[in-house]
Amino acid sequence: MRSSKSKWITIGVCIALVLIWKLNVPGQQNKYNIIKWLPPKPTDTLTPVQTSSKACVKFEGRLGNLLFKYSSLFGIAKKNNVNATVPTTLPLLRMFHLSAQTGSCKCVNNFKEKKGCTFEREVMEIGGKHDICLTGYYQSWKYFNDSQTELRKELKFKQHIEINAREQLSLLKRGKCDDSACVLIGVHVRRGDFVHKEHLRKYGYTSPDKNYYIKAMKYFRDKFKSRLFIVASDDTAWCKKHINGDDVVFVRRNNTPEVDMAILGMCKNTVMSVGSFSWWAAWFAGGEAVYYGGYPKPGSELASLVNEQDYRLPGSIKM
Ligand SMILES: *[C@@H]1O[C@H](CO)[C@@H](O)[C@H](O)[C@H]1NC(C)=O
Ligand SMILES: *[C@@H]1O[C@H](CO)[C@@H](O)[C@H](O)[C@H]1NC(C)=O
Repeated sequence: MRSSKSKWITIGVCIALVLIWKLNVPGQQNKYNIIKWLPPKPTDTLTPVQTSSKACVKFEGRLGNLLFKYSSLFGIAKKNNVNATVPTTLPLLRMFHLSAQTGSCKCVNNFKEKKGCTFEREVMEIGGKHDICLTGYYQSWKYFNDSQTELRKELKFKQHIEINAREQLSLLKRGKCDDSACVLIGVHVRRGDFVHKEHLRKYGYTSPDKNYYIKAMKYFRDKFKSRLFIVASDDTAWCKKHINGDDVVFVRRNNTPEVDMAILGMCKNTVMSVGSFSWWAAWFAGGEAVYYGGYPKPGSELASLVNEQDYRLPGSIKM
């Protein structure tokens, strides 16, 4: 009698336990337990756990510098599969509809660029435990070459800039470049600090003399019968003295940098000066570009930081 009773109690407890287990364990977890026991795939063990989600760069400098920094951040973030993040105060936000989110990164480890105008491939794959924080200039098209299509879509000037530039351009063209065959060539002449600041010149910054512009313009004059050179500069007085011809007009002096950039970008081809503003003017124009081969000064400290292949706009012509 006694053993039969305890037998039934044991069976009852077992049934109860099975029921409790069945009711409390959802099917998902059951499946998960089975999956967990499969041997890991080799790729699972090789992929580091990604916990970084953002990439930031320290923004400083003027328009040309900011464009390099933003575009490289854009490309680097894409490659690392994280979100490009920019400060709300970034001046570029006033000029373009950028896709980057605004905010800041938690900067534990900074990636410091070694040279300013040399592509450092390792930064394209540094995703890891922390947000990616970049310091440096990142002046190489190779950082954003694979993201060019997306980048060109978002680096379109906001409407008020576009309209302003277009109006100025049509006034400059009037009577000088009216037929549809007429080709516009933007000429950027940067002098300012590169000419007048001794320490910058020593470091390796140079600015071309008039002979470069004459030569570069001859190249386009030979090529296009009907053309107009649109000259934008921080030193219009110098330009008016040294760059002349019936086919030359000057952009007015009091424009914002972004309006000057938009005007040069609307031209088909570009005569570049030196520095990042010129580089971007040619990038926006997207046609043929001529650059000054005497920059940076050969043998200078600056020259040692520049990798020609990485820095020069692809396809641009040295003069
Ligand atoms: C990037 O931002 C989007 C939208 O805020 C978010 O859904 C996504 O998870 C973020 N990516 C990473 C890697 O954090
Ligand atoms: C740059 O991009 C173009 C097309 O998008 C591609 O043909 C070219 O190989 C790329 N160059 C490098 C160095 O990645």
